[in-house]
This record gives sequence, C-alpha cells and structure tokens, in this order.
Amino acid sequence: MTGTDQAAARIDTTRPHPARVYDWFLGGKDNYPVDEELGRRITAIDRGAPRAARANRAFMQRTTRALAEDGVRQFLDIGTGIPTEPNLHQIAQSVAPDSRVVYVDNDPIVLAHAHALLRGRPEGVTEYVQADARDPQAILEQAARVLDFGRPVALSLIALLHFVADEDGAHELVSTLVDALAPGSRLVLSTMTADFEPENVEKGIAAYAAGGVTLVARSRAEVAVFFQGLDLLRPGIVSIADWRPDQAPDAPGPVSLYGAVGRKPLTTGTARPGA
Ligand SMILES: C[S@@+](CC[C@H](N)C(=O)[O-])C[C@H]1O[C@@H](n2cnc3c(N)ncnc32)[C@H](O)[C@@H]1O
Repeated sequence: MTGTDQAAARIDTTRPHPARVYDWFLGGKDNYPVDEELGRRITAIDRGAPRAARANRAFMQRTTRALAEDGVRQFLDIGTGIPTEPNLHQIAQSVAPDSRVVYVDNDPIVLAHAHALLRGRPEGVTEYVQADARDPQAILEQAARVLDFGRPVALSLIALLHFVADEDGAHELVSTLVDALAPGSRLVLSTMTADFEPENVEKGIAAYAAGGVTLVARSRAEVAVFFQGLDLLRPGIVSIADWRPDQAPDAPGPVSLYGAVGRKPLTTGTARPGA
C-alpha cells in the first residue's frame, strides 16, 4: 500500500471535515455527501458562505503574490486544504521560480491529494508535511529540511485558526511559530469573525458544531492579539475582501473573515506574550 493509499484508507466519510466542506463551497469534487450536506445547511443559513470561501482563496492569492513581489522566497503554509488551482506555490513560483514552499495539513484527504501540490517549478522546492498545527515544534523541525529559518519566511495560517480555539492552543501555536521566524518574516492570517453578521455566524457555528466541527469567531481586537510584536502591513486588519482588492466584489455585503499581514521587525519591539 502506498502512502497515498494509506491516507485514502484513513478518510472518514461518516462525518464532515473542514477541508472537504471548504472544497464543496469552492465547487470542488473532493468531498462526500456528509460534507455537501453540511455545506448546504450552512448555505441555507448564510447564502454568502460559498462567496466567503472564494474571497478567502482570493485573499491567499493576493497576499502570496504581494509577498513574492516584495522579495519573500520561502513560504510555510499551514492548513493548506485540498489543492485548488492556482495553489500557493504556483503563485509564488510564477513570481519567483526559486521559491521554496512547505505545505502542512492534518487531514488525510489533503495528503491523498498532495501530489498535486508537489508539481512545482524545478528551480524551486515544494514539500508536503502531514502534521497538526497544534504541534508547531514538529512542524518547524520538518519544515527546516526545506526552509532556512535564518532567512525570512512567509507563514500563512489562512482560514485555519477558526478551527483552533484559544483553549486548544491557538495563541501558543502562533507565538511558537512566529518566534522561530527570522526578522523580516511575515505572518499571513485569515479567520472568521461575527463582527459583521453576528446572527448568521452564530447559526453557522451551531451547524458546524452539530456536524462535530469546532468553529470559533474572533473579534477584530482578538485577531489583533495574534499580531502583537509585528508591524501590520497596509491596510491592517480588515475583511478579507478589503485587503488590497484587485477586482470589484462579485456580490454586495460583508465577508465574515478578517485578514491581515504582519511583518516581524528587524529590531525587537514589543515582546510577544509568552516570548
Ligand atoms: C478552510 S480550509 C483552508 C484552506 C486554505 N488555507 C485556504 O485558505 O484556501 C482549512 C484547512 O485547515 C486544516 N486544518 C484544520 N485544523 C487543522 C489542524 N489542527 N492542523 C492542521 N491543519 C488543520 C483543514 O484540514 C483544512 O484543510
């Protein structure tokens, strides 16, 4: 049995999984009836849910392009999701073919499709690590085989942290990872908020909970805590649709995820909590 076969054998089709529900929202084919059922239930509560998924994917694309154009050549993307073109390495390597990218996810379905993430440019490196974000030390050790942590790295936690509650180690994982990064590194983050549409988001959280998936909404002030000690790049912490948009929105109305990019300063400023 190959590693891919083993991963496929571990896929649990009896309950919804975040990666597969997100794939359904994006119109992908790598999801099961349980995922579609939850996706439809969420969409019945909030018709904007598929649009939020598309806006989030577009946020990943814009931030990756912006950082590659700004000279970043190393990327650590945790909570990668099922491959959806263009993937992060394709964007980074389209700007700079020698970009080195490490993808991380804990869902066996992502591992089963990881070969699609590894078809990078020969000048660069793309690697996939099967690991849990709540074990950041293990991620750092494995990523160090590909990334030079003495030089800047773009760490992306895109639509990941709303699956990790504070009491489940959300802040510890961010501070452990950011502390390991060289000055000039970036933190790219998007995460769900109830600030714009509290009722819909609360109902959505309840629907995910009924499907066995924990989802956490965070206020703008709570998101800002993840960026303590970092310099926020313009435009700061905003709805992901408003982070340097490059086209008109495909529908009116808010998108209930905050997104931001922070840069680790060259000289140490405010200490991070726990640092
Ligand atoms: C909504 S998808 C986002 C995919 C991609 N980052 C994007 O924004 O397009 C969230 C991903 O995070 C992964 N994930 C959730 N909890 C995780 C954990 N504790 N460790 C690693 N990955 C996790 C899920 O498996 C899923 O693939």
